[in-house]
Amino acid sequence: MATTSQPDMKATIKQDHETIILVREVHKYYELGETRVHALRGVSIEIKRGEFVTIMGASGSGKSTFMNILGCLDKPSAGRYLLENIEVSSLSKKELAAIRNHKIGFVFQGFNLLARTTALENVELPTLYARISKAEGEKRSREALALVGLGDRVAHFPSQLSGGQQQRVAIARALVNRPSILLADEPTGNLDSRTSVEIMDIFQNLNDEGLTIVLVTHEPDIARFAKRSIQFRDGRIHRDERIQTRPRASEVIQNLPKLED
Ligand SMILES: Nc1ncnc2c1ncn2[C@@H]1O[C@H](COP(=O)(O)OP(=O)(O)OP(=O)(O)O)[C@@H](O)[C@H]1O
Ligand SMILES: [Mg+2]
Repeated sequence: MATTSQPDMKATIKQDHETIILVREVHKYYELGETRVHALRGVSIEIKRGEFVTIMGASGSGKSTFMNILGCLDKPSAGRYLLENIEVSSLSKKELAAIRNHKIGFVFQGFNLLARTTALENVELPTLYARISKAEGEKRSREALALVGLGDRVAHFPSQLSGGQQQRVAIARALVNRPSILLADEPTGNLDSRTSVEIMDIFQNLNDEGLTIVLVTHEPDIARFAKRSIQFRDGRIHRDERIQTRPRASEVIQNLPKLED
């Protein structure tokens, strides 16, 4: 990408090859008329390739604000963010959009699918922005849908899919440009517990294949499937720990009651 040749890129913080996300003393302020919300108050974190991190914390503690910065949807008010050694805060809007499209897959609580287009077309959308050929885009989209177990639902519209299936379409869409990181903000927030564990099974399998995942959740039962757990409190990182014994979602599913189809 052209951005790596800019001179100011050389002023990067020295970092390990394996580091994919490096955040240093990041602050975020929101200006709301007279008042100023200090949503992030000096967050520093390093995430290595292949990690699977969950972020927990009370409502309003800054989790989504932080995810939006990681996902290059928003910039820090102060501090540094390096994504694969690229200083994100110095990039233009256009460059940010390019990074977002190539390096980041985003999954949201509300699925955010286009209602009038099929599962396949929803997944193909990011390949259009990435200027991948129509044929290649369709091939990749079919592969991504097969990967999340929806190979037989490509022609369905979102309204013809269950919540869990819609979220799987959204995951396929997030994966289709082969990002370096998958960011998910409460991806199971609208799903029942069995479907939530099925989504975590997909995430564990993707992570086994080397994909780096950062996921926000309110549910400790969901967080335990990750490898590392970070707790936000009042715009700061309150706790950051390895998860010692994590269950396999595929095994947990066996013990959950089946839903009527
Ligand atoms: N666009 C915005 N403008 C002004 N204030 C905002 C904006 N977005 C978030 N905030 C404020 O910043 C703080 C952190 O919000 P954030 O959405 O990051 O919390 P959260 O941890 O994701 O909460 P939840 O668990 O409810 O999703 C809150 O006090 C919120 O009101
Ligand atoms: Mg949030």
